[in-house]
Amino acid sequence: MNAETWWFLCRASGIVAWLMLTASVLWGVVLSTDLFPRRRRVAWLLDLHRWLGGLTVFFIAGHVAAVLLDRNAHFRAVDVVVPYASAWRPTAIAAGVVALWFLIAVEGTALAMKRLSRKWWRDVHILSYSVFWLATLHAALAGADSSKPLYVVTSLAAVSVVVFAASYRILTHGLPKRRPAPAQRTRDLVA
Ligand code: HEM
Repeated sequence: MNAETWWFLCRASGIVAWLMLTASVLWGVVLSTDLFPRRRRVAWLLDLHRWLGGLTVFFIAGHVAAVLLDRNAHFRAVDVVVPYASAWRPTAIAAGVVALWFLIAVEGTALAMKRLSRKWWRDVHILSYSVFWLATLHAALAGADSSKPLYVVTSLAAVSVVVFAASYRILTHGLPKRRPAPAQRTRDLVA
């Protein structure tokens, strides 16, 4: 294996993970608004959201493994789990580490959804937006490709669509934490 292979894998898996994360956040907004009314939703719409989240975790695992296996990068295990442990670009890496912990919390509670109260699950699930912003900051500050035109255009497009989707979600359905009024909930159940 070429000495730079792990570095290429780190960059490639980081970018794919971040694209999967963006798609997952967008699909979550689609599901939580009335773009697909609840009664017309088919199972694959929710499955797609779950798959995108799962793929994000898969590629992040590859990203972190590649960082650790890259002998030129000199990352220790503690650097990838403790914010500010890394001496190299501490703030950029800390943003990635916190995003990683938030992502684990979001995916862990999604898997345990049936055993958790709806409120608990929701409060943790809302961290998905923070995962997106922290990962975007991390990639912009740490990535070797972040100044390349294709990267800049892609990241501006991703940030714009997430801002638009989150604004649409808040304007049409209120803040994510707000629970529907009892009358609204009853209508949803009857519909
Ligand atoms: C949700 C979590 C994370 C996401 C979505 C993510 C995504 C990304 C992306 C998109 C890049 C830019 C790659 C490029 O410019 O080609 C990047 C760079 C990088 N990430 Fe992460 N990352 C995450 C967590 C972590 C963690 C926990 C570490 C642990 C140290 C880490 C280490 C790095 C390093 C060292 C780079 C720079 C690679 C280079 O030299 O270009 N990332 N990451």
